[in-house]
Amino acid sequence: MNTPKLSIVGVGPGEPELITLKGLNALTSAEVIFTPVAAEGKPSLALGIVQSWIRPHQAIVPILIPMTRDQVMLDTAHQQAAETIAQELSPGRSGVYILLGDPMLYGTFTAIAERLRSLAPSIRQEIIPGVTSISAAAAATETPLATGSERLAILPGVREQSAMGLMRLLGQFRQIAIMKAGPALPRLMDALQTLGLVEDAVYVERLGLPGELIVRGNELTRLPRKRRSYLSLLLLRQRKSRRKSKNLWPEAKTFPVHLIQLQNKRVVVVGGGPVGERKLKALLAAGAHPMLISPDATDQIQAWVKEERVQWRRRSYVRDDLKGAHLAFAATNDRSLNATIARDASEEGVWCNVADDPLLGDFHMPAVHREDGLVVSVGTEGQAPARASALRDRIAQWLALLHEDAQHPHHSNSTSRHA
Ligand SMILES: C[S@@+](CC[C@H](N)C(=O)[O-])C[C@H]1O[C@@H](n2cnc3c(N)ncnc32)[C@H](O)[C@@H]1O
Repeated sequence: MNTPKLSIVGVGPGEPELITLKGLNALTSAEVIFTPVAAEGKPSLALGIVQSWIRPHQAIVPILIPMTRDQVMLDTAHQQAAETIAQELSPGRSGVYILLGDPMLYGTFTAIAERLRSLAPSIRQEIIPGVTSISAAAAATETPLATGSERLAILPGVREQSAMGLMRLLGQFRQIAIMKAGPALPRLMDALQTLGLVEDAVYVERLGLPGELIVRGNELTRLPRKRRSYLSLLLLRQRKSRRKSKNLWPEAKTFPVHLIQLQNKRVVVVGGGPVGERKLKALLAAGAHPMLISPDATDQIQAWVKEERVQWRRRSYVRDDLKGAHLAFAATNDRSLNATIARDASEEGVWCNVADDPLLGDFHMPAVHREDGLVVSVGTEGQAPARASALRDRIAQWLALLHEDAQHPHHSNSTSRHA
């Protein structure tokens, strides 16, 4: 009896002709077609792409892969998937597992492969590559991914979309491909605008599928600011001229001031976690009566609320919270909410500090050392807060030594001689 075989076939990102010949042969000769779905009863994108080659005698078995980051749910789904495939592929029966793009690039089968191997070692697995969404997008937009000795970075989409994160990568890679760009597009646009990079970007949504959308460069600023489809990516290819100017950091434009009379100003902090607490602490030290907007708050903040030093609106942020404010602090643990607050603040004419993306917003919080009649503030253009704190501590130590010197000149002289 023939050993059962499972071909894992990348069907390309959308256009049906982008499947390989080898993939098509495996697909048309398979008895069972396994196709990932995000929820029970939902249509499978991969299946939609190859629909016209499917014959009535072929069995279609949906494999549920929920769209979640919950590892327990995912583990359960992957185990269930391996069991379903093992049951279906009796000896002599061949199957294909189809998926979008290429199987080895953020593919849903990778986590199933090992489980299936230990559950049913007799099933031979063969991976048939496919055209990735990145290469199809590069072709459709005539954007080279890399030439000569250039480097390409591929990002899964979420974390590195801050101006700061992109900034770091842009020093090392000429080109960046950001998957799942649509859901975070407003935030990504903020980062691109901050860095003057909108011109270098192209956004590709539902490539080769109904509703395809390709938007380039400055056209992107005209797209309505909202979360968009998950089936999307952004290619960012830096202009050569930009790469030549070594300093990618936007020109320093810091104007240091020490604000006074904060007690009479409306100061709003959004976010009642440890970051919000730090902002509130600094504001209280400056005599402000800040207002916190947050559904919850740390114990320390609640103590300040009890002492009536902080006003607390115990609910989620709404834009009206910024009305009449002088300063705002976006200090929630939700990056895109912080970006929204920064944007609202800019439209309302309120100065805003963004905790997790110092390049957004209008001002940074320096590291501060205070003593009688003296305020030392240290800033690093938002680039290295830890360095600012370390430097502030060194300065404070040095000041302490100076004071000691003033009080015990002999002792200090002898110390410096020994040094
Ligand atoms: C789970 S990953 C699968 C990637 C796939 N294995 C590949 O090789 O392209 C899904 C991501 O691929 C990208 N993608 C897949 N098909 C696409 C399409 N037709 N148009 C734009 N982006 C697509 C999007 O970034 C989407 O969030």
